[in-house]
Amino acid sequence: MGNRESFGSKFGVIAAAAGSAIGLGNIYRFPCEAGANGGGAFFIVYIVIVLLLGLPLMVSEFVIGRRSKRNAVGAFKTLAPGSKSWPIIGYMGVIGAFLILAFYSTVAGWTLDSVFKAVTNYYQGKDLATIEEGFTASIDNTWRSIIWEAAFIFLTAFIIIRGIEKGIEKYSKILMPILFVILVILCVKSLTLPGAKEGLTFFFKPDFSKITGRVLVNALGQAFFSLSLGMGALITYGSYIAKKDNLASTALMVSLCDTLIATLAGIIIFPAAFSFGIQPEAGASLAFNTLPMLFNQMAGGYFFCLIFFILLAIAALTSSISLLEVVVSYLTEELKITRSKATTLAALGSFALCVIAGMSLQTGSSLKVFNLTFFDALDKFTATILMTIGGLFTVIFLGWKMRKSDFEDEFTNGGNVNMRLRKIFYFIIKFIAPLAITVILITQWIK
Ligand code: TRP
Repeated sequence: MGNRESFGSKFGVIAAAAGSAIGLGNIYRFPCEAGANGGGAFFIVYIVIVLLLGLPLMVSEFVIGRRSKRNAVGAFKTLAPGSKSWPIIGYMGVIGAFLILAFYSTVAGWTLDSVFKAVTNYYQGKDLATIEEGFTASIDNTWRSIIWEAAFIFLTAFIIIRGIEKGIEKYSKILMPILFVILVILCVKSLTLPGAKEGLTFFFKPDFSKITGRVLVNALGQAFFSLSLGMGALITYGSYIAKKDNLASTALMVSLCDTLIATLAGIIIFPAAFSFGIQPEAGASLAFNTLPMLFNQMAGGYFFCLIFFILLAIAALTSSISLLEVVVSYLTEELKITRSKATTLAALGSFALCVIAGMSLQTGSSLKVFNLTFFDALDKFTATILMTIGGLFTVIFLGWKMRKSDFEDEFTNGGNVNMRLRKIFYFIIKFIAPLAITVILITQWIK
């Protein structure tokens, strides 16, 4: 493994991991989940989970990745030699990442379609009903959807074939800060709309009676989804982190940036949605129809709308490459398949599922699994089952299987940083996190 690639700089690591974290999960999925799970109550639970469970799990994945310098499966094989069961966490991650990539690319396809609509000035002057009808019509148009999905998966595969440093790092670094600036501008606009206050109240004011087991598990799933946890993605990225980088501060920066972007998305979307009369439970409509309406009301709306959807597509790309990388690094390192073959294989497989996921959302479609559309089934199965269980066993692995001295050595960079933090983190990883995740997983069946 002597010449294994690594990230070029400290900022590059944060940018790449934040690039993985920040994506459609923040701007599309977070508002959907917050809207469907009671708004303010969800938001509070979400923040607590990010800090108490997400951050320690992210550190755990980085530690496991950098210690082993291997892919999601190889990491567990290396750190638990001879064990047949621990690598299962890694296999779950590889399968999960593959499944997420499929429905993720469906949503990314809508994003590219929105870029197209923005370029052609489609949104201008249209009212909400027309924009909503147009969105449904685009989903119902099979070929149109397939072309955008294919384009997105092709771009993802293209970057992956070029490798880590030239590919992933270069793109993440410049673009995410620009996305942030646009979001801040959008916030200001959204908050000055008539009726904005009602949306803010919905998003921020917790009604604690709304916190049920379902809300907890959905918040847990959303936190892990948004932070790219529980699927081996950050184990894989961790394996590319240089020895001198501080894992805890990297994880903290990434978690904070990711949560900040999700919060901004909420501050933009709910006031605007309430102002335009879009229900908080409206799902995909929250991001894909509310925002174009908002741009319609802004000076320079054409320009902002275009830049926004382009940046959102790029944010989605820096996330999808981390998903594909999980699968590809497994195939190349464990099964010795060449990088380009592995990428092509994984991308084609995901594409096939992606098309089915997209079609399952068409009007009148019967592509259903357990009463859910195939799209929702993929989403719920990965976020609330694979990711949470993957995360649970990852912290158990670190706390109960790996040598404590290995954790400490990696966490403190050989005794140079984070000496005091190491005890707190170890305690949370060993006791609190496994317990809390288990309790949440159980409560979802109670209520
Ligand atoms: N975190 C990304 C988002 O919010 C999605 C994502 C990328 C992901 N890699 C992941 C989710 C790995 C789970 C696991 O858009």
